[in-house]
Amino acid sequence: MIPDELFLKIVRSAVKAPSVHNAQPWLFSRSDDVFFILPDFQRALPVADPQHRELFISLGCAVENAMIAARFYGYVPAFHFDSCNNRFMIELSLRKDANQAAPELFSYIRYRQTNRNLYDDITIPHDDGIALKSAVSLPGNDVTFYSGEEEIRRLTPYILDAGSIQMSDPAYRRELIHWMRFSQHEAMRKGDGLYATCMGLPPLGRTAGSFLLRNWVTAKSVEKRVRKQLDNTATMALITSAKDDPAHWIETGICFQRFALTATRLNLNHSFMNAPCQVPEVRAAMMNEMAVEGAYPQLLIRLGYSDKIAYPFRRRIHDVIITNY
Ligand SMILES: Cc1cc2nc3c(=O)[nH]c(=O)nc-3n(C[C@H](O)[C@H](O)[C@H](O)COP(=O)(O)O)c2cc1C
Repeated sequence: MIPDELFLKIVRSAVKAPSVHNAQPWLFSRSDDVFFILPDFQRALPVADPQHRELFISLGCAVENAMIAARFYGYVPAFHFDSCNNRFMIELSLRKDANQAAPELFSYIRYRQTNRNLYDDITIPHDDGIALKSAVSLPGNDVTFYSGEEEIRRLTPYILDAGSIQMSDPAYRRELIHWMRFSQHEAMRKGDGLYATCMGLPPLGRTAGSFLLRNWVTAKSVEKRVRKQLDNTATMALITSAKDDPAHWIETGICFQRFALTATRLNLNHSFMNAPCQVPEVRAAMMNEMAVEGAYPQLLIRLGYSDKIAYPFRRRIHDVIITNY
């Protein structure tokens, strides 16, 4: 059996992964020498993510953190994904190897964050771009960078159109409000969701916060905010995959997590502008018009330099563990 202490250490690293709406759609278990990661569909987003694409990407991010942690504690993880009759399971078989070198990215797991600040409009050094590109290393996954005003202007209509479609949909707004945590008390108590402080919103409490999101945050006001963020962005990155199914979504998550930890190591902030990958018609247009034909847009990332922000909360570790699996 994987020892208690090792199991808990790996889970603690895994849950620090990013997840869509901070829903943390994962569960963990273990057997003799296998660490299991399972999707928790009760934490799915039926409106924003009906196919579970981003749920599986989130799972992939947790898998990468778990593999890095396993290596750090002296184990070689072998990854295996199993899907049968709509049951999905990720297995990491752990083999002890005392000569394993400690992975460099381990120490950045706790510092990585989604940073929605405005960034300084400074171009990323060439060598850092190369390091980020090589982080997206699984076959079939790729990253394309868009640097400078002109290239970012090409992406802008997709970002604005998708944002406007989402914010004009009452069901999307309802789901977003459901996952918002409008005060520190609420965010800590639930241990999940989008913490207002990390979204650049004042701590309002649920009643006032819901009212504000329903009545004051409009497609127009979101567009204004997004335009300001884009005006202050020197580089965007589009992560694509060759196929569009759960196995490839998990691999995209693995690649993204390496990318995000590498960015953290380089003192580079990142945040998601993922609406164009979430709205099917905008995603299809982006595939046809942005020369990513045949490659599926999975994650659109903003990169740049800024101060750190507050960290959002995670659920209690025992709420994500299944015993007797
Ligand atoms: C697949 C995926 C999609 C995401 N999409 C968005 C997005 O469109 N906009 C956004 O602001 N954050 C997005 N996020 C970031 C999450 O909201 C963030 O990971 C979560 O709130 C936890 O915060 P942390 O990354 O700082 O730990 C996404 C994260 C993942 C893994």
